[in-house]
Amino acid sequence: MLRHVISPQDLTVKELEDLINLAKDMYSHPSNYSEKCKGKKIATLFYEPSTRTRLSFEAAMLNLGGSVLGFSSADSSSAAKGESVADTIRVISSYADIAAMRHPKEGAPQVAAMHSSIPVINAGDGGHNHPTQTLTDLFTISQLKGRLNNLTIGCCGDLKFGRTVHSLITAMSRYAGVRFVLISPDELRIPNYLRTEILDAKGIEYKEVNKLEEVLPTLDILYMTRVQRERFFNEEDYIRLKDSFILDKDKMSLASPDMLVMHPLPRVNEISVEVDEDPRAVYFKQAELGVYIRMALIYTLLKEAGKIEG
Ligand code: CP
Repeated sequence: MLRHVISPQDLTVKELEDLINLAKDMYSHPSNYSEKCKGKKIATLFYEPSTRTRLSFEAAMLNLGGSVLGFSSADSSSAAKGESVADTIRVISSYADIAAMRHPKEGAPQVAAMHSSIPVINAGDGGHNHPTQTLTDLFTISQLKGRLNNLTIGCCGDLKFGRTVHSLITAMSRYAGVRFVLISPDELRIPNYLRTEILDAKGIEYKEVNKLEEVLPTLDILYMTRVQRERFFNEEDYIRLKDSFILDKDKMSLASPDMLVMHPLPRVNEISVEVDEDPRAVYFKQAELGVYIRMALIYTLLKEAGKIEG
């Protein structure tokens, strides 16, 4: 069966659990999976910059014994000559077995999926969704906290344009006892659809604040995000808001001894480098774990598409 992953809601809670369990096994026993995708190819179609997502997809496929092709910017593809996403994916479907696409336009991976004969994975579309970052986040929380329920999660920074936060809230709202503390300047609060369609619709407990210090002691997880220059229409607004929150050692002294500090990365100023040595800072571990959950996703989608043996 041909399946695409465009939003976190494309995966059921049971499927998320299966992917996390598979990623755990891949992490513990990588050699058992080193030839599972032999002869298969992933196309990484990146119309926007990336370090972790593109390279972890590529590392994941190489770890599974497969191969990689693709482009890392729109300028180096025929998008620069005006080719549509629909035409591109029709062609790539005859070159590769699965594709991961990042695009600055919201909905572009969905359009690709509609014209594709291979599985398409959304690797981040504009300010909309980033489902494989969310898989990485859930795998990290599961590994380091031992549970995905009964957690108070603080999301801090650019909650308006931050696609990682949008996907994380959507996915974590499906677990019992999860509460959100949404920490941002007034201008960068979450989009209204998340409030109405997810948080209010599901009766999830949440509050919106603009001071980090006062809520830090209450958090199990602090999910920091970057204020993203590339999403602002106006440079003055970016400069005014970019350093709204800076996590440093002094602020960390207010947090619980077992709070996790997560960040999808890249960071700019929002976490001081002095925090990196704190055992609660897990953002580099989070980036490492992203390879294994992407291995699990590639393997599962290729298996479901009948392209590899189970
Ligand atoms: N977390 C994340 O999406 O990082 P990149 O932009 O480097 O892929």
